[in-house]
Amino acid sequence: MTREIVQYPDARLQTPCAPVADVTEVADLIRDMFATMYEAPGRGLAAPQVGVLKRVFVMDAGWKEGAKTPKTCINPEIIAASGRVTGPEGCLSAPGVLAQIEQHAEITLAYTDAAGLRQKETLSGFEAICAQHELDHLDGKMHFDRLTAKARQDLIADYEARK
Ligand code: NI
Repeated sequence: MTREIVQYPDARLQTPCAPVADVTEVADLIRDMFATMYEAPGRGLAAPQVGVLKRVFVMDAGWKEGAKTPKTCINPEIIAASGRVTGPEGCLSAPGVLAQIEQHAEITLAYTDAAGLRQKETLSGFEAICAQHELDHLDGKMHFDRLTAKARQDLIADYEARK
């Protein structure tokens, strides 16, 4: 089942999310988040984007180019990061605008998977960017909150004008 994608400036996108205590409590949520992400279509989706303030995101960085490789990240944490890279980022919760955002080029992410197992994985390229973008959502931040105050204000004005 797909769920409605919450649109900025909804307060649920600006509120830090709570840790997940037990993966069984988010099984239905995860299933719906993948359905919603693929239908949108998008490559990543965080729980607050469907109105649930829990620390879980889903991503599938390359499915538009080939086979699906769904990844579920529950209670994710960046435990190492290196390099800097700047590139265009969009968000399903703020459609129509792209922002040039600086992120780490490579991160090591610790997270609990859909089976409840703690994983540790080093991500680079688009997967690293996507994971950092989704993790920001869990902290109540939008990607454009990483911009300078002026650039952020201009982007939000552009977004509001397009709505
Ligand atoms: Ni987003």
